[in-house]
Amino acid sequence: MEAVTHQYFAVTTPGLESVCAAELLRLGLVTDEIKGGVGFNGGLRELYLANLWLRSANRILVRLGTVTARDFPTLYQRLVRLPWGRFIKPGTRCDVRAVSHQSRLSHTGRIAEVCQQAIRKALGPGTGSDEKTQLVLVRISDNRVEVSVDSSGDHLHRRGYRQARSAAPLRENLAAAALLASGYDGSVPLVDMMTGSGTFVIEAGLIAASKPPGADREFSFMMWPKYRPRLWQQLLDGARKDGRMEGYAPICGVDSNPKAIAAAQANLCRAGLGRNIDIRSGRLQELIPTEETGLLVGNPPYGARLGRHAGLPQFYRDIEYLCGTTFANWKCALVCPESVVEKMKNIRFNPLLGFSHGGIRVFLYVKEPG
Ligand SMILES: C[S@@+](CC[C@H](N)C(=O)[O-])C[C@H]1O[C@@H](n2cnc3c(N)ncnc32)[C@H](O)[C@@H]1O
Repeated sequence: MEAVTHQYFAVTTPGLESVCAAELLRLGLVTDEIKGGVGFNGGLRELYLANLWLRSANRILVRLGTVTARDFPTLYQRLVRLPWGRFIKPGTRCDVRAVSHQSRLSHTGRIAEVCQQAIRKALGPGTGSDEKTQLVLVRISDNRVEVSVDSSGDHLHRRGYRQARSAAPLRENLAAAALLASGYDGSVPLVDMMTGSGTFVIEAGLIAASKPPGADREFSFMMWPKYRPRLWQQLLDGARKDGRMEGYAPICGVDSNPKAIAAAQANLCRAGLGRNIDIRSGRLQELIPTEETGLLVGNPPYGARLGRHAGLPQFYRDIEYLCGTTFANWKCALVCPESVVEKMKNIRFNPLLGFSHGGIRVFLYVKEPG
């Protein structure tokens, strides 16, 4: 029986905290939203559920403890006493990353080194696997040292399906956050007007099919001493039982670049989604709605990542025409910088989310139907 309650923190891209908090609430968890993520409490079940189901988060941390230290000997002594053995097997290689603000201890390399020594002392020698690394984060602020252990391993946007890439793909968790914030739940048709490697379409498929994004990958918690494979399997089985592989509204993605289409189709196949999803070559200028209403999405090229080219102003006018006229009765969602929607003066786009992507400030802009 897992009676222990831990403090967890779902790290998000700044700007996506509210989307992640809503996802945790849907899992039945009480949340505490702060800049850069969302705190929640629970046992192993809640930790596994968060890793399995969160679509918008970057990783899930376990708060190991907080100590106060103003010099290195004190830091070492206090870190040794933290309950490392609950999460790390003796001998496991650790990657310790430290940050420090307004504190006596400011040399982050030395802080990380002292933490490594404390972990070795606390756990003793062992034969832990050398292949996998456990990430440990140390954050010092006003001499308070907060230590967290990462439970996810690879970044959560790595679902495992996107091995074929096209130019300037959107991260999977950002695409999912944009869809969730637009109110997408699979009940209305979705069209991605420039699908690239298929990220929107596949994330939409996972949402529509109620398929957890973490079902096909490994996590750091699987190498912890208290890993419970049967509990994990139960949660996976439960997710499969509750999922709907068919029976959701159609999803379609087009792109003018045949190489992007080949990548998107290969990714879709790997994601193991149903037959309601159609990815095909085509120009967005030729799209016409086949249903009364739905969600039209797009992540237009914006010069900086794909190279500036003379055709962009006309391309943006074409998108404006598509959203404002051809698909007037559809909700439209664009992920792009402000400079792009500024060119579409005839449409009222509301910025619902703002976040950084590839070092560029972008927004989720939504136009309501009609
Ligand atoms: C920023 S990328 C989209 C990336 C995509 N969201 C992903 O995650 O892979 C923009 C895409 O627009 C496509 N594109 C450019 N002109 C187009 C047109 N006229 N019709 C349809 N797609 C077009 C490009 O081929 C490119 O794949």
